[in-house]
Amino acid sequence: MTDLSTTYLGFNLKNPLVASASPLSKNIDKARKLEEAGISAIVMYSLFEEQIIHESLELDHYLTRGTDSFAEAMSYLPDGGTYSMGPEKYLNQVAGLKKALSIPVIGSLNGVSKGGWTRYAKQIQEAGADALELNLYFIPTDPDLTAQELENAQVELVAEVKSAISIPLAVKLSPFVTALPNFARRIVEAGANGLVLFNRFYQPDFDLEELEIVHNLDLSTSADLRLPLRWISILHGKINADFALTSGIHRSKDLLKAMMAGAKVGMIASELLWDGLSPRVVEILGHTQKWMEEHEYTSIKQMQGSMSQKSVKEPAAFERANYMKVLNSFRDRP
Ligand SMILES: Cc1cc2nc3c(=O)[nH]c(=O)nc-3n(C[C@H](O)[C@H](O)[C@H](O)COP(=O)(O)O)c2cc1C
Repeated sequence: MTDLSTTYLGFNLKNPLVASASPLSKNIDKARKLEEAGISAIVMYSLFEEQIIHESLELDHYLTRGTDSFAEAMSYLPDGGTYSMGPEKYLNQVAGLKKALSIPVIGSLNGVSKGGWTRYAKQIQEAGADALELNLYFIPTDPDLTAQELENAQVELVAEVKSAISIPLAVKLSPFVTALPNFARRIVEAGANGLVLFNRFYQPDFDLEELEIVHNLDLSTSADLRLPLRWISILHGKINADFALTSGIHRSKDLLKAMMAGAKVGMIASELLWDGLSPRVVEILGHTQKWMEEHEYTSIKQMQGSMSQKSVKEPAAFERANYMKVLNSFRDRP
């Protein structure tokens, strides 16, 4: 019998398919259906720093950022819809999911600065979450802000969150980091047990008629897998953390590739939102098992990292050579 089990953040999971942070975790029935279909753990949608601060109107924020700029920043936030759920409701949802499910429930915080809002890490733990994912979503727009300063701030934030909790911590990273392996190592040294690659950066568009910025969320395709696939292949064996691959898992082959790169789990969101919950989970897991049997793999653990760059002596030269090969592979149309 093929063994699909894996480990992630210290949990023994029956298989490597985890539900990524998405609105699906807002609905307990949907979460239950995901569990029944075979999902092995679920990451909740994020509670944002801004939501917490908005509610508690923290004095130190007013003092450090200035009342005007803070009020201005707050006015950009959506005032309804998906992210309207406040901190108390979030904690209730953690407790509700824990009660309804027997798979690990991973809470999610999304923030950029140190401060009182990080106490919610502990509250999410106390509400019953088995682990916490910290999403470091930030777009630098200030030419005075250096990469070093930004990375230092993020490393300090990870350390602050870690010191507040005793459950495992995963950090969801941006792909837009100059020297990702070094930054990843610093995040792990600051206390992260897992790294989730990558945050999807939604690119806004312009409406030319209305002269407005258009925010529409494009779901991923399997082509989006390549970015995290490359980076997990590079980091596997060099950084002492559990890797989760998120972006572009739609089929069993995407999940298998994630494992071969060195991920402990593959996280899935778009496919479930796009094409219904249970049938896709059952199908992806079934096809994964079938492929493994056909190719004589006895366990997921056996394949994890088998295609990573762990054994490549000169990874940077290898990457340049691959780049040249890709360019050379193009054949002009006759
Ligand atoms: C509608 C929607 C809502 C999402 N909400 C969150 C969120 O609250 N926190 C977060 O870290 N990621 C969030 N994500 C990102 C997903 O967790 C995931 O990383 C991303 O969609 C890439 O995975 P996929 O290719 O399987 O969709 C969201 C994605 C979608 C499509």
